Formats: sequence, C-alpha cells, structure tokens
Amino acid sequence: MKIVNTIKELKVLLANERAEGHSIGLVPTMGALHAGHASLVRRCVAENDVAVVSIFLNPTQFNDKSDLERYPRTLEADCALLQAEGATIAFAPSVAEVYPEPDTRHFSYPPTDTVMEGAYRPGHFNGVCQIVSKLFGYVEPDRAYFGEKDYQQIAVIRRMVEALSFNIEIVPCRVVREESGLAMSSRNSLLTDDERETAAAIYQTLQRSLAFASSHSVAETQEYVVRAINAVDGLEVQYYNIVDGITLADVSDWNDADDIVGCITVFCGHTPIRLIDHIRYK
Ligand code: PAF
Repeated sequence: MKIVNTIKELKVLLANERAEGHSIGLVPTMGALHAGHASLVRRCVAENDVAVVSIFLNPTQFNDKSDLERYPRTLEADCALLQAEGATIAFAPSVAEVYPEPDTRHFSYPPTDTVMEGAYRPGHFNGVCQIVSKLFGYVEPDRAYFGEKDYQQIAVIRRMVEALSFNIEIVPCRVVREESGLAMSSRNSLLTDDERETAAAIYQTLQRSLAFASSHSVAETQEYVVRAINAVDGLEVQYYNIVDGITLADVSDWNDADDIVGCITVFCGHTPIRLIDHIRYK
C-alpha cells in the first residue's frame, strides 16, 4: 500500500492505473477507522482493481469546534488497518493541501440537507459536499463507498452527484454493529464502558419499534421511541424523525412513501457524545 500526501502524486498514480484500464474505488474517511470502515474497504477492494482510501479530518464539516478537537486521530493504526485489508492507496493530505484557500462554494439540496442533521448542525452538509466533491475530482473513482450509518449523508451525496453530473456509482454499505446492536462509530471510542452499554438501548428500542409500528401510527411510533430512549438514564433524544427514505421529508402516514426510515440522534453520557442511528420501516 502506498501512503500519499499530495494531490499531485495521487493524480499521477491514478492516471497510470486508468491508462492500464483499471477500475478505481474510493472510500472517503476521516480516520479513526473501525470495523465498519474495514467492511467498506473490503468491499471496495473486492469490487475494484484499485482501492483508494482517503483519511482526512475535514474541518469544514464541523460546526462545533470542540467536536473537531475531540475527534480521535489514529493515523498509524489507520494505515495498518488499510494495509491489512488490501487497500492500494491511503491518501492522507494536510488541511493546507486540500484547502490552500477557503472553500467558498455553497451546496444546497433541500430537503435532504436542511432537515435533521442539517437543521441541528448548520453548514455540516455544505462541508461534507465541499470535501467529497474535491475527493471525487482528485480520484475520479468509478465507485465510492459510504456507510449507511450516516443515512442522511448518503441522501445528500446522491443529490450532489446527480446535480453535478459526477459519473460515479454511490455504493451504500450496511451498518456494522457491535454485539449489543450499537452502530459502530469513531465517536464510540469517546464513550466509557458504562456509556457504551447504555447506548445499546438506542438500537434495541428502534428494533422494538418495528413491531409497535405495525399497529400504530407514525406519530405514535415516533413518540414511543422518544419516550423509551429518554427513560434510559444517560440518554437524551435530540430528534427522532420518521421520513421518506429518499427525500428525507417527514411522513405522517405509513402509506406516504415506498421507503420509510426512522433517523435518530441521541446524546449519551456526561460529555455528552452525540450518536446517530436509523431503522428502516419499509
Ligand atoms: O462520513 C465521513 O466520515 C465524512 O463525512 C466523509 C464522507 C469522509 C467526508 O469527510
């Protein structure tokens, strides 16, 4: 595996691969890699001749400075994981390399980027689109792999790909969970053991809500989830929206859309750590 720090070197390497007719896959990450990332990389390696994994803690998508400061940084361990999974290139540029000057581009794909995370983290998806569009430009991958844990992020990126006519297949990959059901996330490493156990109630409640939903309305199901999670000491729901799985607009009836997904954000513990998850109703 090659570790590359500059856009120039990356482009030269990939131009050679493309000239050989090799397909290219991209897994964008912010580092602090875990088993969830490893599953994305494994799939990218299996489906492409060249697997590029970017490791870049993108400052423009953090609306909360302390969240950025707290974010785990584990470059050496990340590179060891990528090497073990068979990645071809780890692309780990500096902030100055990616943003030699401020990125003033503005992306807007409502309602995907204005609801839920978009409402609670203003500017977050603009930053995600800034970095992902730059990475797509550097790598020009045939396929790009994203974890479904960040369900809303995939919906926004799909809209961006459509709007900017990127010729890239977006490959959503299933959430990898700990044994307790807790969705794997880089932020889980910031939880204490007790908090990690407490956080398992999030997905357990979402799963129980599937049976509840079969005989209750959307509003009742939403209330059931919020009440059950808030009843757990150490957890506080920020929002639970039951939405159209494509547009992310709220639904009020189970017949309102073909795809219906519940998206949740919960504060866990004393710090507190913000955790997100989702469940598919149909
Ligand atoms: O999902 C993430 O880790 C980030 O939002 C991404 C897609 C790597 C962009 O920085």
